[in-house]
Amino acid sequence: MRVEGRHYRTIWAAEDGTGDVEIIDQTRLPFDFAVARLTTVAQVAEAIATMRVRGAPLIGATAAWGLALAARADPSDEALASACAQLLATRPTAVNLRWALDDVAAVLAQLPPDRRAAAAARRAAEISDEDVAICEALGTHGAPLIEQAWAAKNGGEPVNVLTHCNAGWLAAVDWGTALAPVYKAHGQGIPVHVWADETRPRNQGASLTAWELGRHGVAHTVIVDNAGGHLMQRGLVDLVIVGTDRTTRTGDVCNKIGTYLKALAAQDCGVPFWVALPGPTIDWTIGDGLLIPIEQRDAGEVTRIFGRAEDGRGGWVQVTPDGTPARNDAFDVTPARLITGLITERGRCDASAEGLLRLYPERAG
Ligand code: MRU
Repeated sequence: MRVEGRHYRTIWAAEDGTGDVEIIDQTRLPFDFAVARLTTVAQVAEAIATMRVRGAPLIGATAAWGLALAARADPSDEALASACAQLLATRPTAVNLRWALDDVAAVLAQLPPDRRAAAAARRAAEISDEDVAICEALGTHGAPLIEQAWAAKNGGEPVNVLTHCNAGWLAAVDWGTALAPVYKAHGQGIPVHVWADETRPRNQGASLTAWELGRHGVAHTVIVDNAGGHLMQRGLVDLVIVGTDRTTRTGDVCNKIGTYLKALAAQDCGVPFWVALPGPTIDWTIGDGLLIPIEQRDAGEVTRIFGRAEDGRGGWVQVTPDGTPARNDAFDVTPARLITGLITERGRCDASAEGLLRLYPERAG
């Protein structure tokens, strides 16, 4: 995607050939566009845990780059095992993290230590490229849903898509998941408008989704998290598209806290509820979404809110009385029965074991 006329991914190998990695620091958005350089696995772990990088596909790609930095520093079996454990502990819900680490570790296990650093960097770059291709394919398979919604409106008013959190290009290496169909449809000239849930507590919708849609010229409006059901009741939402951090083999979807409530409202109002996901987000080992580990984050993200004051300075502002206890579950689970369908890089399917196996037959048995 383009920022001020220049094409960016969210993560890339530094152009100076040092093997360092650069990222867009998402904790600085929407007020500052800043690139941060990562040189050690500890910095990568910190970047994932503090959400300088976030979103399931990007967390996976970043972890792969983290293992490459670890191999550059010390390619021994012990050091790599410790780096994997350090990275795996950063965020427990997005299964892409484990997927990427397993993938790179399997490549390195075949090689002598002196060849591991280069091989890890190569594989991390491939994983990044694969993610871009996968996410673009999500756009290709999802855009017809927006086109159909537009046809149903007789080509009149823009199609209203509601999304939760940020599942756009900032959440992946490029394109995004839930927003990839929006970008494709927009590129095809289909008028589309996005309702962006603000997504407390970290406000990824208000700060990141609004920022990237604005940069790309896609019409959008930020709404408070509780507004979606109300808008659906009034016919102001044509379809919902969200991303996911982990989808079970049976089609249950774990995504940013609040997604489940949107799915309930969508079902009550007869609004189609779609989930866009790359293959590496499917956890084939889990058959019940309630078994997915839910990340518990710092209560300070609930009791405070980050923003820019009128004097232009950014900072955290407390919104609860001193000492108020708070709970911060980062994700929830939407059961497959509430989901109209899944958009994958291989096409669309029902949110069910049968639906997923039709697209991923190699997973049968
Ligand atoms: O806590 P975050 O910001 O990493 O959560 C991100 C989401 O919930 C996204 O919807 C999900 O990762 C799918 S993204 C492409």
